[in-house]
Amino acid sequence: MMTEQSSNTVWHSATVTRTRRETLHKHKSVILWFTGLSGAGKSTLAHAVEERLYQLNCSTYVLDGDNVRQSLCGDLGFSDQDRQENIRRIGELAKLMLETGVICLTAFISPFEKERILARQRVPHGDFLEIYCACALDICEQRDVKGLYKKARAGEIEHFTGISSPYEEPKNPELKINTGHHALDECVDQVILFLQGRGIISL
Ligand code: ADX
Repeated sequence: MMTEQSSNTVWHSATVTRTRRETLHKHKSVILWFTGLSGAGKSTLAHAVEERLYQLNCSTYVLDGDNVRQSLCGDLGFSDQDRQENIRRIGELAKLMLETGVICLTAFISPFEKERILARQRVPHGDFLEIYCACALDICEQRDVKGLYKKARAGEIEHFTGISSPYEEPKNPELKINTGHHALDECVDQVILFLQGRGIISL
């Protein structure tokens, strides 16, 4: 976003373009945007897909909610406004990653349809692939890997997604994976087949 403070700047075009980088990497560059409730398995799936892609000689990078919130977005909390800003920054970062020619996997709750659409609209059509990690709230809550649902129910965490803050399910995700019921390996297979089907990685 161009602000008043960053006027008088001139964009410098690179000679090493995205297309050249994609040729070097021997696969297309894309954003795989994983969305879902906390505990739905977004990060686990994104990292497992990355591992499989690495074995297939692909260049990848995972942007993970918990990690990014300890750095780039460390100043943000969980109000609607802060989540919007969180997703806006990640959208911009993912757009930059796209230019580097890698497969960028993002794992953020990204609860609001509007911000997901804005992130999608920042990149060319077909470069933003939304992967909905569908997992029922009661399953996420039973798993409660980080113990956060217990705290949220006890009123110790406010604005907790699914409990005291909304999650808007994607209406038309490119891929919906039932992470609540399928084994991790099966979920990874689904993503890899999807990427092959789309011609992003070779068969
Ligand atoms: S998002 O809503 O802005 O997309 P993000 O994915 O970055 O969220 O961060 C979610 C992670 O922060 C959760 O997996 C959880 O570990 C932690 N967290 C801490 N407080 C909350 C909260 N109020 N709601 C949801 N997640 C929270």
